[in-house]
Formats: sequence, C-alpha cells, structure tokens
Amino acid sequence: MRRIGMQLIREKKAAIMAETLEKGQGVERKDIRERDLLTLLIRANMATDISEDQRLTDDEVLAQVPTFIVAGHETTSTATTWALFSLIQRPDVQRKLREELLQVATDSLAMDELNALPYLDTVVRETLQRHPPVPMATRQASENDTIPVDTPYKDRYGRMREHIEVKKGDLVILPILALNRRKEIWGEDAHEFKPERWEHIPEAAASVSGVWSNLLTFSGGPRACIGYRFSLVETKALLFALVRAF
Ligand code: HEM
Repeated sequence: MRRIGMQLIREKKAAIMAETLEKGQGVERKDIRERDLLTLLIRANMATDISEDQRLTDDEVLAQVPTFIVAGHETTSTATTWALFSLIQRPDVQRKLREELLQVATDSLAMDELNALPYLDTVVRETLQRHPPVPMATRQASENDTIPVDTPYKDRYGRMREHIEVKKGDLVILPILALNRRKEIWGEDAHEFKPERWEHIPEAAASVSGVWSNLLTFSGGPRACIGYRFSLVETKALLFALVRAF
C-alpha cells in the first residue's frame, strides 16, 4: 500500500507541477478540476493560497488512502451486495421495491428525493441491520474503569456482577452485529430479513445509542462514522438504478 500509494502521490504531483509550469503560475484552489479524491487532496495541498500550517505531509496524504478504500468504498460496496443478496432471497420484497422505484418518472434523483422513497429506505435499514459491513469495532481502555450493564450477570466463577471491570490496556470489543440482531431488543424474528419491521420498531430499540436508526451499524458517540449519510444515499442510488433496470 505504501509503495503504490507513494508512487501515485509522486505521479500526481509531477502532473500538477507540469501543468502549473505550462500555465506559468502557481496552482490555486479554484484550479482544481480532476474529481478523484487523491488529486483533490494533493492539489489542495500544493495550492499557493493555502498557508503552510494547513498543508498535509505526503505521509498524512498517504494515510488517507486506506480511509478512502476501506472506510469510504468497501463498506458501501459490501452493504449494496448484501442488499442485492437479500432481495434475491425475497422476491416479494424485490417486487414491492421495484414497483415503488418504477413509479419515479426520472432516472436521476437528487439526494432528498432518494431519501423520500419509503420502501427503499426500509430495505436499506433492514439490510444494514442484518448485515452490518463493520460487524464489530474495538477500543482499548486508557485507564481502569467499569462498564455498566443493563442486567446483572454471572461471571465465569459463578459470582453475580453488576458491571464489567476493565483494566488499563484491555481490548474491548463492540459487538455491532450481535447487538443489531439481539432478540431481546428486536424480537424473535430478529434474524429474519423483514423490511416491514421499520413501520413499528420495538420500544426496546430506543435504548440503542447508535448514530443512525437505533442500530450500531455506524457506531455512536464522538467517533461514529463520519460518512454515513453519504453512504446511505450512495447505496440507495445504486439500488435505485439496478432494481429499476433489471
Ligand atoms: C455502509 C457503509 C459504512 C459503514 C457500515 C461504516 C461503519 C463505520 C463504523 C462502525 C465506524 C466506527 C469504527 C470504530 O469505531 O472502530 C466508522 C468510522 C468511520 N467511517 Fe464509516 N462506515 C461506512 C461508510 C463510510 C463512508 C462512505 C465513509 C467516508 C466517506 C466513512 C468514513 C469513516 C471514517 C473516516 C471513520 C472514522 C471516524 C472517527 O474515528 O472519528 N465511512 N464507520
């Protein structure tokens, strides 16, 4: 990744420099025309109207590449794949979705128009609940602490506990998929693909502090996913085009 990433950065910088020399003046933010993210970052970094303290180093630019690929691309691609898989297994849902999408008069919808399609919305929620593309996340405790629990539990020595103790340095797993499919919250059908559940969600779901849709799919709190609105509309746009066409 480093070798290829640095090579890409070098090539893009050289191309920008060549263009700048041809024009006979420094590159400015308004000159940025290419739309791929790496070029946008590098050009913005080289712009003469950006102060030195706002520039990223090549290493910092490179560190954004896994974010583009893994966080920004692979997750949404996986979500869309699971949506198509689920629709294939449930032709009735597929038919109902297709009927909704075929009622739209145009092929290109704005973000708000895509978000206003109710059945598409429930299909996406249901997919991201059953199949969260990031099935778990981890945290490392920076100090000794206790994690409160809803219900007291028995530890491995048979003692009843009212919280979970963690020590500085412990790794804690956030079981996103397990929580999304928890029968105690979502009911006995928690493992089934049922978009209709979103018409009346159970009261217990209100206790899930995810950033979106009472789910932990995009995590929650200050380090929740920054790209979730973008990802949702991207998935909807892909499904809109594919389900209408085929
Ligand atoms: C279905 C699609 C996506 C899912 C399921 C998803 C899920 C998540 C989750 C669970 C986290 C928290 C990870 C952790 O705490 O360890 C996260 C963080 C993040 N996501 Fe997403 N994500 C998606 C799409 C995107 C997109 C499209 C972008 C960028 C355009 C993006 C950018 C990020 C970034 C930068 C973080 C780190 C935020 C931080 O630590 O402050 N994600 N995402």
